[in-house]
Amino acid sequence: MAEITASTIDAVLQRQLDAIKTTVESREVGTVIQVGDGIARIDGLKGAMAGELLEFIGGEGKTVFGLAQNLEEDEVGAVLLGDVTSIKENDQVRTTGRIVEVPSGMGFLGRVVNPLGEPIDGKGPITADGYRPVEFRAPGVIERQGVNEPVQTGILAIDAMIPIGRGQRELIIGDRQTGKTAIAVDTIINSKGKDLICIYVAIGQKASTVATVVETLERYGAMDYTIVVSATASDSAPLQYIAPMAGVAIGEYFMYNGVDGKPASESNPGRHVLCIYDDLSKQAVAYRQMSLTLRRPPGREAYPGDVFYLHSRLLERAVKLSAKNGSGSLTALPVIETQAGDVSAYIPTNVISITDGQIFLQSDLFFQGQRPAVNVGISVSRVGSSAQIKAMKQVAGSLRLDLAAYRELQAFAQFGSDLDKATQDQLNRGARMTELLKQGRYVPMPVEEQVVSIFSGNEGFLDDLPVESITRFREELLQNLRSTKPELLKAIIEEKKISDESAEALKAGIASFKNQFSVEG
Ligand SMILES: Nc1ncnc2c1ncn2[C@@H]1O[C@H](COP(=O)(O)OP(=O)(O)OP(=O)(O)O)[C@@H](O)[C@H]1O
Ligand SMILES: [Mg+2]
Repeated sequence: MAEITASTIDAVLQRQLDAIKTTVESREVGTVIQVGDGIARIDGLKGAMAGELLEFIGGEGKTVFGLAQNLEEDEVGAVLLGDVTSIKENDQVRTTGRIVEVPSGMGFLGRVVNPLGEPIDGKGPITADGYRPVEFRAPGVIERQGVNEPVQTGILAIDAMIPIGRGQRELIIGDRQTGKTAIAVDTIINSKGKDLICIYVAIGQKASTVATVVETLERYGAMDYTIVVSATASDSAPLQYIAPMAGVAIGEYFMYNGVDGKPASESNPGRHVLCIYDDLSKQAVAYRQMSLTLRRPPGREAYPGDVFYLHSRLLERAVKLSAKNGSGSLTALPVIETQAGDVSAYIPTNVISITDGQIFLQSDLFFQGQRPAVNVGISVSRVGSSAQIKAMKQVAGSLRLDLAAYRELQAFAQFGSDLDKATQDQLNRGARMTELLKQGRYVPMPVEEQVVSIFSGNEGFLDDLPVESITRFREELLQNLRSTKPELLKAIIEEKKISDESAEALKAGIASFKNQFSVEG
């Protein structure tokens, strides 16, 4: 029999100890010391991280989640994301080591969800393909590439002069009731069949307004590729605050994964996503409310100092990924509501400086009947033109100039009566071009038809028509070309430019249509 020595005992003990597999889970437990206004103050969570998901154990064991926001010396301030009423003082709170995640996946298309990814359209549960964190570090420059494909809005004034590229951030800004949402909705409708997943995030709107948007999208068959994330005005401030981040997180799932659900790569392309945040002014207000109840010091216009950081974090996540990362894209169309056209207020200036351009909508244009009420003089898109097709660049270059000249002259012309012929001609052209840009809702125009419309104006075909008949002329001309010369429209889209032959054929086609066009209607 083997001798039992100290070393054999030691070896046996060692083996047994090795066999025990333990992982240490460090979870801190604290207690709620104060709760109200959707905010909780917690004692005893020394190790909580900023933005960490906290688990509140309410009465009857009900769990409510919260977000750690203020890390102070002797307490933690948190916002509650669920049923606020079930949490009382002295309830337990635990750290989770995680940040909030939202589910995403193909099952979400066509659905309306809250900012936690839970369905609110009464169409039953949704199976998630994956989860994404609501806060995510935006990719750096190396992981990106330049914008090179267009997001066609179908709106002539925008696609021609303020073009948007996939991966761009373009602000839609204007007073209330100037058609901001209309542009967003038209863009979604126009994205049908264009391999673009749309996410409409409604923040702080009336539930009825959101319902109307969803109903419209359904009517035009656009919900098939759209997800609506909604935090209405009656939802708590923390939910409204988190809604845009939840929307972008849901979108990122599609961009960072291929159709097979595996991470996107060179051989497994990521998808293209369009995120609309309607609107970020209301998110800023919700964030202000949250921060003030958390007793953060207010800064400019009582917004917390880091509201700029909040919006830049969000919009920086709009990206066109490099080929190595699957070439997916996420385009952001944030909406900002101004007060009495004041773009110099704090939040508008912030978001203008973060985005790659803005579509500025103006009340007086809207009321004069210029719809969409885009002020082309001060609207810009700093990167989108590299995604425009050449045909559009050919015609739209002079359009911008014509309109700029028109605006300048218009101011003068009010005073003088006898204008020389050149001035008169420019005024004439400008008025007709401005009229040409009018477009109703839900009638998106394909890019080749936009090109032809502007072409007809540039070539002077509109100059002798009465202004009132311009939009009708445009509609009837396009209808005529669609049925009699479809090959012409096709050539523009296939060659992506207006070749000399196309130009000649177009001129002939427009001239022959114009002969039969009756001005009286
Ligand atoms: N191109 C258009 N042609 C005709 N009517 C339009 C056009 N665009 C918008 N409208 C109408 O203008 C009204 C306001 O539009 P919309 O709701 O999009 O504006 P908004 O700026 O989003 O308003 P709010 O500030 O209330 O969100 C709506 O009744 C809409 O139908
Ligand atoms: Mg709106």
